[in-house]
Amino acid sequence: MTSVHVTDLVKDYKLRSGLKRTRLRAVDHVSLELVPGRTVALVGESGSGKSTIAKILTRMERPTSGTVDVRLEDGTAVDGAAYRREVQMVFQDPFASLNPFHSIEHHIARPLRIHKRTGTNEETHARVIEMLERVNLSPGEDLAPRRPHELSGGQRQRVAIARALAPGAQVLIADEPVSMLDVSIRLGVLNLLGRLQREDDLAVLYITHDLATARHFSDEIVVLYRGRVVERGPSDAVILDPRHDYTKLLAQAAPDPERPGRLAADAGPVDRDAIDNGRCYDHFAGQWRDAGVPTESKERSA
Ligand SMILES: Nc1ncnc2c1ncn2[C@@H]1O[C@H](COP(=O)(O)OP(=O)(O)O)[C@@H](O)[C@H]1O
Ligand SMILES: [Mg+2]
Repeated sequence: MTSVHVTDLVKDYKLRSGLKRTRLRAVDHVSLELVPGRTVALVGESGSGKSTIAKILTRMERPTSGTVDVRLEDGTAVDGAAYRREVQMVFQDPFASLNPFHSIEHHIARPLRIHKRTGTNEETHARVIEMLERVNLSPGEDLAPRRPHELSGGQRQRVAIARALAPGAQVLIADEPVSMLDVSIRLGVLNLLGRLQREDDLAVLYITHDLATARHFSDEIVVLYRGRVVERGPSDAVILDPRHDYTKLLAQAAPDPERPGRLAADAGPVDRDAIDNGRCYDHFAGQWRDAGVPTESKERSA
């Protein structure tokens, strides 16, 4: 059982155009928590900082400031090899995330060996087949010896999910895991993620720009706009009673899964130019806060 506590995460990118140097704040004082058995949806449009947060959580990028604290139930800090084993990512693009030169079997056997999950070759092979079955890729299809290009996009993403789970993942960061897939197979892959989460009691961060699936597949929604959290709360509260203009805008674009043809929220017209990211509505606290300021100073001033 592993939990993740993200506090006041900031990421600045230095940009250069000719002689001019500028700084771009991609993530601005974001805090969130991932706990076993729960899915948090991180929702926002393209460029809002979602993937940057995912990369920091999986240690592909370093934060400019702020902390990512990963701990076991008994309080032991998870670090080093344990961190690389327990915190896993599923990427947006299943074409780019698998190596075209390696077999499907290799993709899953490698993390099993690296993290010493299996001993003999026979044991590893059996576990690979078992992992493929877990993601609904049946032995009858005989995918293990094949190369990624011989699989469909949906099958490839299932392989990527199996590879993420293979080391013994406790925390899964899924960065727009179905946005590159055919619309007809998206729900199947999301349902699979939901089942695996329940079976393994995973802590999941589901990154998406789609508020409708966020409601369906998550317990909590965190809305990100230009690097800042502008609204957060239980999924139903955020979708049915959006407070921030940006969330209202997203909700207006999201169909209600329970009432086909209807929108999730009818919040009235929103002026896109007037949207700011200075304030955040917290449904848990039932109040507005300043967005983009450190957590401590927020509490001190409260
Ligand atoms: N390596 C990088 N160097 C400079 N800017 C970056 C880099 N990665 C991301 N950005 C910028 O940071 C912002 C957030 O990007 P990203 O986290 O990928 O957003 P999202 O995943 O929500 O689309 C964007 O403006 C993007 O251009
Ligand atoms: Mg992204």
